[in-house]
Amino acid sequence: MLRFEPIELDPVARRLRRAADVGDLRRIAKRRLPRGVFDYIDGGAEDEVTLRANTISFRRIGFRPRVLRGVGGVDPSTTLLGEPLSFPLVLAPTGFTRIADPDGELAVARAADRAGLPYTLSTLGTRSIEEVAAVSAGRLWFQCYVWRDRGLVKEMVDRAATAGFETLVLTVDTVVQGRRERDVRHGFTLPPTIGIDTLVDGVLHPSWTWSFVRAEPIKFANVVGKEVGDGSDPISLADYINTQFDPSLSWRDLDWLRGAWSGPIVIKGIQSVDDAKLAAEVGVEAIALSNHGGRQLDGAPAPIDLVAPVADAVGDQLEIICDGGVRRGSDIVKAVSLGARACMAGRAHFYALGAGGERGVDHVLRILDADVRRTMALVGVGTVSELTPDLVALPSRP
Ligand SMILES: Cc1cc2nc3c(=O)[nH]c(=O)nc-3n(C[C@H](O)[C@H](O)[C@H](O)COP(=O)(O)O)c2cc1C
Repeated sequence: MLRFEPIELDPVARRLRRAADVGDLRRIAKRRLPRGVFDYIDGGAEDEVTLRANTISFRRIGFRPRVLRGVGGVDPSTTLLGEPLSFPLVLAPTGFTRIADPDGELAVARAADRAGLPYTLSTLGTRSIEEVAAVSAGRLWFQCYVWRDRGLVKEMVDRAATAGFETLVLTVDTVVQGRRERDVRHGFTLPPTIGIDTLVDGVLHPSWTWSFVRAEPIKFANVVGKEVGDGSDPISLADYINTQFDPSLSWRDLDWLRGAWSGPIVIKGIQSVDDAKLAAEVGVEAIALSNHGGRQLDGAPAPIDLVAPVADAVGDQLEIICDGGVRRGSDIVKAVSLGARACMAGRAHFYALGAGGERGVDHVLRILDADVRRTMALVGVGTVSELTPDLVALPSRP
């Protein structure tokens, strides 16, 4: 008997129903968002060699599965910095999140809370520390860039502590802005300015344009009213970062930060074993191996390739997060098997937000959660603590 599929009238549900993975969500976001906006999210620095390497390096790692191990009940939960995670993932900070959806950071923070995962708010967020804290009862981390004006940093960090953010993430790979050539070619500014290209793009993407025009203006919500500029006047991100962030930041400043923040500190942007050792020496609780999703130094190593050597060197002194290129739950299983405590992902939830708003983020987190459970079962483990290096096949070791 021929049965017809029920017709889905809700357009978001219709879009998401067939989105099987992050790649599908990326394709939907590409269709829905103006080209300049999509390329701001999708693009990387220069030739995008590192951007591609981040994902390809995961693909080059295989599994060495075990069978008949009684994995009836898989439990992907773990802890990170002493607190629970429903599976080993933290939502990475992304600047200017409202460019994809008017709710922006609020939508992502709510979805992370529902999924039992920490959400990291960017210093360059377009919803403020207080607004995000008001909508989430979950774990919140605050990502901090160091402005030349240290008073401003101290004030933001204090606001984050007061609002209940538990962990401070110091991003150290952005002393100057990487050259994201897609943004240069589009003349992309934050917020987008209305040139002839934007007008054409806007007409071709009416639903994005309609919500962008109706929503309150997008600003760097954490610095509204400050002298450093809150993004109300269109500026390229490169100009903003190169004039506002302090390139003289060094390991000595970690003392200052320790004095300003009493909770755990994560250094995000470690790209070598030597720097991982220095991070252990200064005593931070965790590091995120990261090249900013391939948006900064083109030619930087893929984070997944650093996990095993860094775990060998300092795995007993701090926790390791692998950030960059995560597109599947199996990527998370590989990173944890090699010695990471968890992964961070940025574009996975940003594409999902562009594809289906807050429901899109729920959708991608459900996919990743299910992926992790299924992969664990198929490699033959029931708990995260059983994920060990002998379960993965590195390119050099089949
Ligand atoms: C559009 C976009 C904006 C980002 N903004 C920030 C930011 O404000 N602060 C930060 O530390 N990292 C930022 N990142 C980097 C992410 O936190 C993360 O390191 C990166 O996305 C990981 O790579 P993935 O996208 O392959 O998961 C951004 C990444 C993207 C894609």
